[in-house]
Amino acid sequence: PQLSSKDSPADRKGVSAVATYVAGVTAMYGLKAHLAHYVKYMSASKDVLAIATTEVNLSDIPEGKVSVIKWRGKPVFVYHRSQVTINQEKVINISQLRDPETDEARVQKPEWLVVIGVCTHLGCVPIPNSGIVPGGFYCPCHGSHYDASGRIRKGPAPTNLEIPTYRFVDDETILIG
Ligand code: FES
Repeated sequence: PQLSSKDSPADRKGVSAVATYVAGVTAMYGLKAHLAHYVKYMSASKDVLAIATTEVNLSDIPEGKVSVIKWRGKPVFVYHRSQVTINQEKVINISQLRDPETDEARVQKPEWLVVIGVCTHLGCVPIPNSGIVPGGFYCPCHGSHYDASGRIRKGPAPTNLEIPTYRFVDDETILIG
C-alpha cells in the first residue's frame, strides 16, 4: 500500500506492523524449509551409514570356501579356513616375510580370515584358492602370490592384503565396517 503525505502517523504505524508480520511469516516458512532440508540430510547420512556396514552370515560359507562380499564398493574375502590351512599358516617364520605379521595377528578367530580383496600392488582383485601357496590368493595382473593368511609371499605387491574393520556379532555372524 502506498502512503501519501496526508496519511496519519497511526496509518503509517499500521502498515509498518503488517509489513513486520509478513516478514515474520516469510521467515518462519524459510526456517521450516531449512529444517526440512536438514532433517532430509540427516536421514540421508543414516542411509549412507547402513551401506557402510555389511552383515555376513558365516553359516552360508562351507569350510575351505571364500565368500566375496561387496563392502563400500570393494570386494571383501571371508575365508572359512580348515584346520590344515590354519596349521600351515601358524608355523611360518615371519622373519622371512616382506610384510612380517603372524597369522594370529591377522584373524579374530583362526577359522575365519577376513581381508579386503584388492591387491596391494596396483589394485586388481586376486583369485582365492590359487597361486603357489595352498589355499592362498593369486593376483594375475603382475603375479603376486598371497598365502592363506593374505600375506604377500611372492611378486611385486609391497604389503599384505588389508584387513577391514569387522566384529563378531555372534558365532555365525560378522559385521564388516
Ligand atoms: Fe596385483 Fe599388480 S595388481 S600384482
